[in-house]
Amino acid sequence: MSVRRLADEAVQPASFAFSEENLKWAERKIAEYPAGRQQSAVIPLLMRAQDQQGWVSRPAIEKVAEMLGMAYIRVLEVATFYTQFQLKPVGTNAHIQVCGTTPCMLRGAEALRKVCQHRIHPDPFHTNPEGTLSWEEVECLGACVNAPMVMIGQDTYEDLTVERFEEIVDAFAAGKGKSITPGPQVERQFSAAHGGATVLREVPSAKRTRVEFPPPPAPAVKAAAPAGIKPARKSPAKKPQGDA
Ligand code: FES
Repeated sequence: MSVRRLADEAVQPASFAFSEENLKWAERKIAEYPAGRQQSAVIPLLMRAQDQQGWVSRPAIEKVAEMLGMAYIRVLEVATFYTQFQLKPVGTNAHIQVCGTTPCMLRGAEALRKVCQHRIHPDPFHTNPEGTLSWEEVECLGACVNAPMVMIGQDTYEDLTVERFEEIVDAFAAGKGKSITPGPQVERQFSAAHGGATVLREVPSAKRTRVEFPPPPAPAVKAAAPAGIKPARKSPAKKPQGDA
């Protein structure tokens, strides 16, 4: 995990403004939150700024803080906490985030990182000579069941082998990243078992049958006393005899 700091002032733009389309989108997004809770839009707005600019610059953070009425430091905290936000310029075609947490490491992440070092740059956050690709190592991206995996933009590429990852890197380097279908790169649906189901494969054989519920028994009817005979009166309880 790298230390996350803003890029040098030398590469920071003088200002940032959302495009007309993105500004309308941002205003709609802010309006989704109840009055006084507009700060909740901080992550969507930062992400939109990154989609527009390719990374999150200091002026972009300042602009988002201004739009949401937040202290600059609060937006900076968010931008520097989440590795989804790039704090310096990255490859123009792809910035590859290699998951280096335990499940991915046990399944070959080290080899994927070497591919990045060999094909892009020995160090993270540096672009290849053409400026089209960059990479970094990040913590778990939540697809451990399909380890090892990488994230490029907002898509994940899972169940990678070195060979398949090199093909993906080639495609992005050539500007053909869209030709690669994201998700598992082996035959499996999402995170289902590789090669198809291994359990619960029998066709259900049980038949559903209807069993009538027996009606409850009728309540017992009390026998009526014969006419002219009064029911016997109970004699009052005798008081105990004792000294007056
Ligand atoms: S450990 Fe790599 S996605 Fe979770």
